[in-house]
Amino acid sequence: MRFEIVAKDAMGRIGRLQTPHGTVETPALLPVINPNIDFIPAHELRKYGAEMMITNSYIIYRSRNLRERALKKGLHGLLGVDMPVMTDSGSFQLMVYGDVEVTNEEIVRFQNEIGSDIVTPLDIPTPPDAEHETARKDLEETIRREREAEEIHESYGHENLLSIPIQGSTHLDLRKRSAEAANSINGDVFAVGAVVPLLDTYRFSDVAKIVLTAKSVLTPARPVHLFGAGHPMIFALYAAMGVDLFDSAAYALFAKDDRYLTPRGTLKLEELQYFPCSCPVCLSHTPEELRRMEKGERARLIAEHNLYVSFEEIRRVKQAIKSNELFELVENRIRAHPYLVQAWREIRNFIDVMERHDPSMKRVFFYLGRESLYRPAIRRHHERVLNVKVDKDEIVISSDPGVKADFYLRPAFGVVPAELMESYPAGHAEMYDDVEDEAYEVAAEGLRRFMEKHRDKRIRLVLDDRWRRFVNVQD
Ligand code: GUN
Ligand code: ZN
Repeated sequence: MRFEIVAKDAMGRIGRLQTPHGTVETPALLPVINPNIDFIPAHELRKYGAEMMITNSYIIYRSRNLRERALKKGLHGLLGVDMPVMTDSGSFQLMVYGDVEVTNEEIVRFQNEIGSDIVTPLDIPTPPDAEHETARKDLEETIRREREAEEIHESYGHENLLSIPIQGSTHLDLRKRSAEAANSINGDVFAVGAVVPLLDTYRFSDVAKIVLTAKSVLTPARPVHLFGAGHPMIFALYAAMGVDLFDSAAYALFAKDDRYLTPRGTLKLEELQYFPCSCPVCLSHTPEELRRMEKGERARLIAEHNLYVSFEEIRRVKQAIKSNELFELVENRIRAHPYLVQAWREIRNFIDVMERHDPSMKRVFFYLGRESLYRPAIRRHHERVLNVKVDKDEIVISSDPGVKADFYLRPAFGVVPAELMESYPAGHAEMYDDVEDEAYEVAAEGLRRFMEKHRDKRIRLVLDDRWRRFVNVQD
């Protein structure tokens, strides 16, 4: 197995991906290196936390000089690194310019010959909102090329890895079809594509639907890459939806435009009085000093900050997975933009997938707002309580923890057996007083189902005024 999962939370995981140049821990961010431009040299990337990078084999292939050096010294020799390097195929150029001067077969062979760690076929990135028929035809061609790449890759011995792109534009039936085909191809990494135009326009919900649709079909045994996703504000969100690999040129592209990345969004250098960061760049400069610098030097320093802060966020996501606090982190992060909140709310339509992945035992449950109601822990509690055996004829259910009762009521969780009042999740949940009505509504629905199930028994409800607003009491 080339991918081993070592920890899970929500749909996120910490994994170890083996490549010919060593093992990479996921979630990972792969900085994009342009082989033509020595902006931040590839061999310096480890300093910021990179364990793998991505470069574009088509740019190398197209330049006679780069191509010959890569064929002679290998990709790693060309870049001067010994860490794993993934290569893209020119598909992005296909999306931007509509055409490339290479075939799928040629570029897949080339990536193998220069010793890429993860090879990418020349998939067709159909833009968002394309006609269904266009997207379907593109996808059929993408799948054909993936099968061709599989065959070529195997002829080279399949020591390095093969990525299988997932396409289909914004048509979820096609994304599903793409994921089904990808499962049947002998690849190592699934790569969700053509989301850059969506991310650029903050259509985070559309990306969420695409990722969740793909994840509900894709085998969990292989890692999922989100092509072109490199802004730290989205790492927690999409990692929690099961994305294992991010890549981006954002650190460099934004820097050249005086844009400063933070996990809560992008800031313009011209608007900053203070740097909200403790990386070496931010500790040793003020925004004003940077503004006075010459453009190239300034861009380089902002890019360094952008890398530091991006890898810091990746580590934060990993720690949240390890300590099973990824829901809490995501619910925090999405507060930075309304469209992030909207994107996270998509999980309501994918509860079953989320439930398949999310571990059922954790230490803490911090209720942080109505999005906390979508966590599987709540739904599981409701199901579990319905299966609790009750051998008494009379049951006392109280909203007041000071009253002796068989069951207690808690917002969100509903009915909680007295003996579970000290256990995860219901007993361990920390909530604020005066929690919003939705939490009571979810609880009241649980109570209604519980009473329905035990309608042969006498049930005595002890309710305070707030609960009485949500619970219909007949007797
Ligand atoms: N980079 C950004 N988007 C894509 C995509 O859809 N496919 C490939 N191969 N590379 C990308
Ligand atoms: Zn900084």
